[in-house]
Amino acid sequence: MNSEMISIHETATTVSEALETRHSIRDFLPKPIPEEILQRVFGKALRSPSWKNSQPWKVHIVNGTKREELAKDLVQAARQSPPRPETNWPESYPSDAKKRMFDLGMKIYGVAGIERKDKEARDQFMLRNFEFFGAPTAVFITSKFELNYFVGIDLGCFLQSILLLAREEGLGTCPQAALGAFPDVVKNALQLPNEEKVILGLSIGYPKPDSDLNRFHTPRESAEELIRFY
Ligand SMILES: Cc1cc2nc3c(=O)[nH]c(=O)nc-3n(C[C@H](O)[C@H](O)[C@H](O)COP(=O)(O)O)c2cc1C
Repeated sequence: MNSEMISIHETATTVSEALETRHSIRDFLPKPIPEEILQRVFGKALRSPSWKNSQPWKVHIVNGTKREELAKDLVQAARQSPPRPETNWPESYPSDAKKRMFDLGMKIYGVAGIERKDKEARDQFMLRNFEFFGAPTAVFITSKFELNYFVGIDLGCFLQSILLLAREEGLGTCPQAALGAFPDVVKNALQLPNEEKVILGLSIGYPKPDSDLNRFHTPRESAEELIRFY
């Protein structure tokens, strides 16, 4: 499957289907997610592998008024300050990756109806990250581990499990580094100890089916290019 517009509001019934059809959702219905569904998704994701079974994750699931308050505080923080993550956000990329990132921006702004030159509209769209793109549930992944490459890989395995399990439940997700941009705000709202580092978050909920933003399926490089057999 390549770059095209597809709708993913139905459930995926196999791992392959979940992988092939998952994409980031950036426009959600306000419909709440039943708690037993959230329990299933996050409970099963705990089976993810990790370095020596160290399980470097904690997950914080935020609904209702707490979610509202946190969205307000995060939007305010983002209006007032550049990101201040406690993880190292990457600063440079190989040129082929830069091109993919540029193309992604162009395509997202295109479907969102935003002119590339319209900085105010782009900034406004960026703030939607902190409103969880309208999702009823915001999730934060934290770790008290010393951050290193393998902790990052473990957390990536955990994150991917969540994204695929959500597809099985008919839910959409958007993983968001942006939700780790203001860790102090998140820790304050959720009363987390300082040692618990806010790595990233995700928005989860039911995708708005008629939204072009949700139908955008990003391309991937070809298997011929990236996979070698010996
Ligand atoms: C670690 C990580 C951080 C991300 N951070 C953000 C983010 O802050 N905001 C956002 O809108 N998308 C974010 N994304 C989503 C990516 O842009 C998206 O996964 C990528 O463009 C591929 O598209 P797809 O998920 O639709 O297949 C993030 C994805 C990952 C894996």
